[in-house]
Amino acid sequence: MSGPKEYLVISGSLRESSRSRILAEYLKQCYETQQVTSAFLDLRVTDLPLCDGDSAYSHPNVAQCAELIAGARVIIAATPVYNFDANAALKNLIELTGDSWENKVVGFLCAAGGSSSYMSVMGLANSLMLDFRCLIIPRFVYATRSDFNEDKSLKDEVKTRIAQLAQASLAIKNAV
Ligand SMILES: Cc1cc2nc3c(=O)[nH]c(=O)nc-3n(C[C@H](O)[C@H](O)[C@H](O)COP(=O)(O)O)c2cc1C
Repeated sequence: MSGPKEYLVISGSLRESSRSRILAEYLKQCYETQQVTSAFLDLRVTDLPLCDGDSAYSHPNVAQCAELIAGARVIIAATPVYNFDANAALKNLIELTGDSWENKVVGFLCAAGGSSSYMSVMGLANSLMLDFRCLIIPRFVYATRSDFNEDKSLKDEVKTRIAQLAQASLAIKNAV
């Protein structure tokens, strides 16, 4: 895990061939193009306990994740859509790191099976806004299988949307 940076990209999927991780990696590239360095937190490689509201908080990886989150100004979370919500791994990270999310600018990159779940991160977005006064970037990237080529590379249209999210995050990073 790298140290805290002003921009943090979180990949929430635990799946090896994750599509949301491809969205997250492209966003990181967009930041690099703008000479912005970002930290990358991949929940597939960072073991975290399930939040029990108790002893789980003392796990050493929880402290490291909390430090990354607290040290960022902008956090973009890439998540699979599971049961009309962000996946449990991302929600678990947020449960474990709670107050570290205070006053962040937060954006979402979502990979979903179909187009009907496009409002599915709103519950999580509401919680971040109301519990931690996060400013939610009103430009979500929501991608389905049809946004990817056969070789799993991104189609140009979704690349444009990710670049626009990066741009929006740069423009409002000092708004909170
Ligand atoms: C347990 C589970 C629940 C899912 N629920 C939804 C859902 O509610 N809406 C949807 O559009 N896709 C749903 N999907 C499909 C995933 O969002 C899709 O496979 C996505 O690519 C997963 O992200 P990943 O590739 O980054 O792992 C679900 C998949 C799983 C395994």
